[in-house]
Amino acid sequence: MKRLPIGILGSGKGSNCLAILERIRSGVLAAEARIVVSDVPDAPILDMAREFGVANAYLPPGRFRTRLEPQTEEQLVQMLRDAGVELVVLAGFMRVLHEPMLKAFSRRIINIHPSLLPKFPGLEAWKQALAAGETVTGCTVHYVDEQIDHGKILAQKEVRILPNDTAESLHARIQVLEHELYPSVIGEFCKRYNGSSQ
Ligand code: GRF
Repeated sequence: MKRLPIGILGSGKGSNCLAILERIRSGVLAAEARIVVSDVPDAPILDMAREFGVANAYLPPGRFRTRLEPQTEEQLVQMLRDAGVELVVLAGFMRVLHEPMLKAFSRRIINIHPSLLPKFPGLEAWKQALAAGETVTGCTVHYVDEQIDHGKILAQKEVRILPNDTAESLHARIQVLEHELYPSVIGEFCKRYNGSSQ
């Protein structure tokens, strides 16, 4: 079985990255993490990559807060191409991608979001769900397009909101499911990658 070369982008603690790297290591996921890239120099996700012996890089994002400089995004494309990446996995990457990446990896960039999209795109979606008085929320894996938390939905998992939930308790339960859902969706891409070579 061929292993799907993936690149993981993240800005934070990297618990989804960890879940993916663990499943690769245990052989459950037929993928190969070629590189982990972060726009935050001391992001724990980079330590995670080092612990697993995965190539990793800090990409200085430039002068914008929510996106990369166009030139930097071109640089990112090159880094991922040089690493032979076939699928780009966003795991808490806090910048909106634009044309260089979207064109270079068309329908090959996926993201995980902590709500049942299209409900509650944007920041701290679990708090949005709580504030809206929802009884159910969850997480979504979707293709990335030019809008925030928007592209075609690939899979979702539901989480019941309990009467005594706090933002923290709810977020923690969503993350447990994220760590199941994301690897399983990547597993589907792995199957397709193998299918396409036969
Ligand atoms: C996750 O909750 C994900 O849904 C969102 O960012 C968070 C990243 O968490 N896009 P982690 O860094 O993987 O722990």
